[in-house]
Amino acid sequence: MVARINTVAFQGIDVVDVDVQVQIAPGLPAFAVVGLPDKAVGESRERVRGALNALGLALPPKRITVNLAPADLAKEGSHFDLPIALGLLAAMDVLPAEELAGFAALGELALDGRISPVSGVLPAAIHAHGHERGLVCPAACGGEAAWVKGLEVLAAPSLMELVNHFRGAQVIAAPEPRIEPDAPALLDLADIKGQETAKRALEIAAAGGHNLLMVGPPGAGKSMLASRLPGLLPPLDAAEALEVSMIHSLAGTLSDGALLRRRPFRDPHHSASLPALIGGGPRARPGEVSLAHLGVLFLDELPEFAGIR
Ligand SMILES: Nc1ncnc2c1ncn2[C@@H]1O[C@H](COP(=O)(O)OP(=O)(O)O)[C@@H](O)[C@H]1O
Ligand SMILES: [Mg+2]
Repeated sequence: MVARINTVAFQGIDVVDVDVQVQIAPGLPAFAVVGLPDKAVGESRERVRGALNALGLALPPKRITVNLAPADLAKEGSHFDLPIALGLLAAMDVLPAEELAGFAALGELALDGRISPVSGVLPAAIHAHGHERGLVCPAACGGEAAWVKGLEVLAAPSLMELVNHFRGAQVIAAPEPRIEPDAPALLDLADIKGQETAKRALEIAAAGGHNLLMVGPPGAGKSMLASRLPGLLPPLDAAEALEVSMIHSLAGTLSDGALLRRRPFRDPHHSASLPALIGGGPRARPGEVSLAHLGVLFLDELPEFAGIR
């Protein structure tokens, strides 16, 4: 029998469906993960084995094959642990396979069976809802997934709670949507003496969403002026907050799964590499430019940036 459960892979900000198929077949005991797994995904075998041990379950002494389809798409990250474990539990007849088929799952497993937070839960939740599935995610990320209205979210602290939920012994409560708590007040333009023209330029840039290049001798107050720009910008509206939070969810910078409501202010150091600034690379992560989306990207000491010259 082949048990199936859904999960996702990320390509930039795009979410791609991944089907996790688990087969337990007679043969020499083995546990193989195929379907272009990277190192972290390959190692998930050991975490899944450990987590099942913590449940008091041993892997059956048979030939276990986990296939991550489509097989030609590179899979990276640690969020495949949970779907692999759930697929395995379904193949072992511990969990009802039909019920699991209605969910997408993502999460990293600890050896004691706890489910650790992963990045990208918000885009995964939106994707799951679009495909009329529920979402199984780490408890710490439940606040992100709960923003998707009408989505059934199982935010489980551990594999044990999840098994109990599916077997009807315990119910996992739906998570509450979380938003960033009120942060301390932003820096104020009032701190700047004089510099009326510069302040006016800053206000015009903030109002019109323009770029601003400041030139002047050291100590003239350029950095001081620039760091006060976020205080002039309006708060994010609901759609913008979602857009920005998606990017930060992928980068794994949302604290406690809480959505952002303040415009990002990014000031990368001038020694930052080109991939750090614009993102990309083999493990495509949002760079500083993307992280500053709808906010401020402050390149202090602009001529020193090696990546820009
Ligand atoms: N117009 C001003 N009002 C108040 N403090 C100022 C002003 N201009 C400069 N300063 C002081 O000088 C310091 C250095 O300014 P800074 O913004 O680092 O200059 P720059 O980036 O142009 O080299 C600031 O931290 C601030 O204490
Ligand atoms: Mg400066």
